[in-house]
Amino acid sequence: MILKGTYTASEQRYADESLYARCGRSGVLLPKVSLGFWHNFGGVDPYERSRAITHYAFDHGITHFDLANNYGPPYGSAEETMGRLMDDDFRPYRDELFISSKAGYDMWPGPYGNWGSRKYLMASIDQSLRRMHLDYVDLFYSHRLDPLTPLEETLQALVDIVRAGKALYVGISNWPLEPLRIGEKYLREHDVPLLIYQGRLNMIDKKPMESGILDFCREQGVGFIAFSPLAQGLLTDRYLNGIPSDSRMAREHFLKSDRLTPELIDYVLKLREKAQADGHTTAEEALRWVLAQEGVTSVLVGASSPEQLAQNLRCVAP
Ligand SMILES: NC(=O)c1ccc[n+]([C@@H]2O[C@H](COP(=O)([O-])OP(=O)(O)OC[C@H]3O[C@@H](n4cnc5c(N)ncnc54)[C@H](OP(=O)(O)O)[C@@H]3O)[C@@H](O)[C@H]2O)c1
Repeated sequence: MILKGTYTASEQRYADESLYARCGRSGVLLPKVSLGFWHNFGGVDPYERSRAITHYAFDHGITHFDLANNYGPPYGSAEETMGRLMDDDFRPYRDELFISSKAGYDMWPGPYGNWGSRKYLMASIDQSLRRMHLDYVDLFYSHRLDPLTPLEETLQALVDIVRAGKALYVGISNWPLEPLRIGEKYLREHDVPLLIYQGRLNMIDKKPMESGILDFCREQGVGFIAFSPLAQGLLTDRYLNGIPSDSRMAREHFLKSDRLTPELIDYVLKLREKAQADGHTTAEEALRWVLAQEGVTSVLVGASSPEQLAQNLRCVAP
């Protein structure tokens, strides 16, 4: 265990300049591999392991950490972990970090703790900042489209969050193409250009390509960050010999065992074969495919150990 305040980041952390890609037509460079806090950073997870993963990330140039108000479990606790990490290790490096959060899914009880109202977004950003011990986030997202709230209400809340200095940039996640078009235009016309779109993209789920969202982002100069690029671990060797007891699938919640069909196993075995022929691991091969899609800025990976992250980071090696 490292004592509070004694972490010193590796001096080599920016040695590989090719790790960074410009986010759309903005001034922001993001690492091509970013770290997500959806799993493995909650109150139920061992803090020292979460801490070790973030140290590995930052020591290797991964400057972007992605959160949301309800990541945990319990809800809010991944942001609390981020706050503890800021206090213990990362405060001196705040200006080297690009930290995002989101609101849009179920967060607190009652009519104001979900979806896309101004009331929810305004309260949520304040809560997120308190939990993370931050004055501002670098990026704040609408986490999903609220079909019952006027788009302009959600979008104006994003604009006002930036104007209030609580976020530097805004992003949109999971919105379908048509509302995304409206959102991009609205934000541009209100001088808060949309920095990035966050959508699920991996070798077995290509919806952002099929729907035209990836093309739209590229044409408009909006970055694209691909979440679940390993399909939550399916596109790795993790499940080739059954379901490990410490795996996400063993928890039967977000990743159910019925995903492990003979067709999927067959697909992953073929992917592994190709990866081996290329001198890569299976995970690396899957991540390289995502990064190779034109318009993709970064793959947003999850990891339950520094070793997994180390393996994933190899996808940017020449
Ligand atoms: N905007 C949205 O709606 C949304 C939705 C989902 C996710 N996200 C974001 O995207 C991030 C990543 O999502 P994700 O966790 O689903 O991504 P992922 O990278 O597809 O899956 C991560 C999981 O795969 C396994 N894994 C990772 N590297 C591995 C390796 N080298 N070998 C074997 N197994 C490996 C680990 O599972 P084990 O735990 O089993 O080891 C890890 O927790 C989230 O943290 C979040 O920030 C956003």
